Amino acid sequence: MVTVAILGVGSVGRALGERLIRVGVDLRFGVRDPASAASKLTGPLVDVPALLPGAAATDAEIIFLAVPAPAALAAARSAGSLRGKTLLDCTNPLRWDGGPIWAPPPEGSVAQALAAAFPDTSVIKGFNHFGAEIQRSPELATGPADAFFAGDDPTAKAAVMDLATRLGFRARDAGPLRNAALLENLAVLWIHLASAGGVGRNFGFQIEEQP
Ligand SMILES: NC(=O)c1ccc[n+]([C@@H]2O[C@H](COP(=O)([O-])OP(=O)(O)OC[C@H]3O[C@@H](n4cnc5c(N)ncnc54)[C@H](OP(=O)(O)O)[C@@H]3O)[C@@H](O)[C@H]2O)c1
Repeated sequence: MVTVAILGVGSVGRALGERLIRVGVDLRFGVRDPASAASKLTGPLVDVPALLPGAAATDAEIIFLAVPAPAALAAARSAGSLRGKTLLDCTNPLRWDGGPIWAPPPEGSVAQALAAAFPDTSVIKGFNHFGAEIQRSPELATGPADAFFAGDDPTAKAAVMDLATRLGFRARDAGPLRNAALLENLAVLWIHLASAGGVGRNFGFQIEEQP
C-alpha cells in the first residue's frame, strides 16, 4: 500500500485524508504546528499523525500539497528533499473580484513553478478542480466524478491515477504538466458555477460519450 503525506490540514487536506484513510492508505499530515493541527484531526482522522513537514515526507512516496497557492513553494521546501518522490499539487492560484480570477505565477501554473524548483521530483497537478465536498465523496448521481491529472512523468501519473481510481474517482489523463494551467482554470469555472453561477458546491465534472 502506498504511503502518502498531505501538507496542510485545512478543508482539502482533511477531505482527501478521510478518503485516503477509507481505502487503507498509510497516511500522515505535514504541518507547521503539530499540536494545533492535532486538534483539527477528529473523526476518521483522529489517529493520523500530524508531524513537521520533513518528518511527514520522509517515508512518503506521494506528497499531496494542500496549502494556499502563495505558500506552495515554501511548504514544499519545508518538507526537505523530495528527490524521487511525487508531489501532487492540489492548489489554485486565485484572487477574487466578485468571483475567482486565475492568478498564476510566471512559470505558467503553480505546478510548473514547483517543477522548476524541484527538478528531481515528479510534479502532478490534480484534485484541484472540485470542492472538498467532492474530494470527500466523489460519487455523483451519474457515477464517479472525473479527476483530471496533468504531469510529465508517466509512471508517477499512472500511480496517482491508480490511487484516484481506488479513491472512487474516474481518473483522466489531462496530458503534460503544461496543462496544469487548464486544470487551474477548470477550478475557476467550478468555483464560479458553485458560487455566482448558482449551482452549489455538490457537483463535479464528467466526460460522457455519445451512446
Ligand atoms: N477548499 C476547497 O474546496 C478547495 C478545492 C480544491 C482546491 N483547493 C485549493 O487547495 C489549497 C488548500 O485549500 P484549503 O481550502 O484546504 O485551505 P485552508 O482550509 O485554508 O487550509 C490551508 C492549510 O495550509 C496550511 N498552510 C498555510 N500556509 C502554509 C505554509 N507556509 N506551510 C505549510 N502549511 C501552510 C494551513 O496551516 P496553518 O493552520 O498552520 O495555517 C492549513 O492547514 C488551496 O490552494 C486551494 O485553492 C481548495
